[in-house]
Amino acid sequence: MEYNNEINRYKWWKTAVIYQIYPRSFADSNGDGIGDLQGIISRLDYLENLGIDAIWLSPVCRSPQDDNGYDISDYQDIDPMFGTLEDMEELISEAGKRRIRIIMDLVLNHSSDEHFWFREARKSRENPYHDYYVWRDGAEGELPNDMRAVFGGPAWEWVPEVGQYYFHQFSVKQPDLNWENPRLRREIYDMINWWIEKGVGGFRLDVIDQIAKDPDRKITNNGPRLHEFLRELSRETFQKADLVTVGEAWGATTELAKLYSNPDNSELSMVFQFEHICLDQIPGKEKWDLAPLPFLKLKEVFGRWQKELYGKGWNSLFWNNHDLPRIVSRWGNDGEYRVESAKMLAILLHGMQGTPYIYQGEELGMTNVRYALEEYRDIETLNLYKERLEKGYSQEEIMESLYAKSRDNARTPMQWNDGENAGFTEGSPWIRVNPNYREINAASQMTDGESVFGCYQRLIRLRKEYSVFADGEFKMLLEDDEDIFAYTRTEAFSRLLVVCNFHDREVKVSLKELDDPGKLLIANYQEAEQPTVLRAYEARMYWKER
Ligand code: GLC
Ligand code: CA
Repeated sequence: MEYNNEINRYKWWKTAVIYQIYPRSFADSNGDGIGDLQGIISRLDYLENLGIDAIWLSPVCRSPQDDNGYDISDYQDIDPMFGTLEDMEELISEAGKRRIRIIMDLVLNHSSDEHFWFREARKSRENPYHDYYVWRDGAEGELPNDMRAVFGGPAWEWVPEVGQYYFHQFSVKQPDLNWENPRLRREIYDMINWWIEKGVGGFRLDVIDQIAKDPDRKITNNGPRLHEFLRELSRETFQKADLVTVGEAWGATTELAKLYSNPDNSELSMVFQFEHICLDQIPGKEKWDLAPLPFLKLKEVFGRWQKELYGKGWNSLFWNNHDLPRIVSRWGNDGEYRVESAKMLAILLHGMQGTPYIYQGEELGMTNVRYALEEYRDIETLNLYKERLEKGYSQEEIMESLYAKSRDNARTPMQWNDGENAGFTEGSPWIRVNPNYREINAASQMTDGESVFGCYQRLIRLRKEYSVFADGEFKMLLEDDEDIFAYTRTEAFSRLLVVCNFHDREVKVSLKELDDPGKLLIANYQEAEQPTVLRAYEARMYWKER
């Protein structure tokens, strides 16, 4: 189907900004130290004030919480830790009153080993649910092959009752679902349609590029039947409603992204890919093996995605999520220039084409944390620590990796105010609050137009006011400049110009676009006396009619 600009312009999610909530760490309503649905409901006014259009809710379904809810044991019920189904219905309706849609996190690559399907599946090979999972013959101690799980250890687990191994790409408590089985697929579609009936606004699809696995050929990502499965899934569910769907795809290239997010709506609305995120790891190694941040590469990656998907697909724009370290501690400066650099990164990202995602606390410029080892909670972090210690890494080396990359950097409680536990809970929090909450918190920023919060609030408004944000064509400027990230977005009647300094020192910029830049929409410093000098982490966004 030809790309049809008219149809696409009216997709609500093209001018939307999505806010991600990690429910455990957002707001606790009952003092048990764990965030919950009533906590979220009590903070909807805050989100309305920020101006977001939708909430991506990390999983709240029933789960033994081996991987904080990414191990679901009942897809049609809420975990008691977070509340009840009625609370969820209340959240959908209360959010709806504020024109905020709720996007559920669908974990379809695997279930919990405590899901009814798996409890049945492991009973016998003849059990009708056995084939819902991925099994291979073998003998105890003789693994089908040497594949490893993402969270450490082998990807195979022995079940004596059936004399077989099951396959798990993540923890042993997250057995992989067998998408080859049409009955399983049907059950999944029915479940999704049930949630659509409840009024959810869309779905985020967890590790969706891993569902079509073929372990015999050691294929996990981008299996041969992946896009066939996605088209069937979309046809049977999403296409029936005006939903947003976003697929987490670590292995996506721009070519694959055009399939996922084809404007003909045959698969998903957009892709959530990580090429710009994985740049600070040594190529071919693990995320823990840190490499210096390659600025020119960052520009090249963003530029390529902007160009390749223009008119042919749709991307997510993000710096953070619940698996990633805080961006201000990564590409920014979480010391002296925390506020300036947090705003710069926001302005840079929100000027591009795609749908922006804000991860809770990002709008405050929240930073990474340095916990003592026993304060970490994440299964990946704890497994990594053990594994690397056994391999002979020093404790210091491992801790450096954790400070930089542990997923718990993103999972520290939301910093609401400077009161005890940052106003997150009246009990004792499941994970320690970042001690900088006295300085960095929502209460102190909400009424201050110059705060990081104020900057995000303004960026969200701009996106709704000016059509160039959704439609403008991207052009990178100063491609080889080692200090400056600059680009334009151009549509029929207007042009956006974004100029950012990525360093903690002044740089001179020579750009003919600055001769007549137009009106300053947003910046992170007072108006410059010398428009051709950018101060530390300075960012400016201009707009003009053509
Ligand atoms: C995704 C989630 C992550 C989870 C994993 C397994 O990458 O974002 O948090 O651990 O999938 O479900
Ligand atoms: Ca609670």
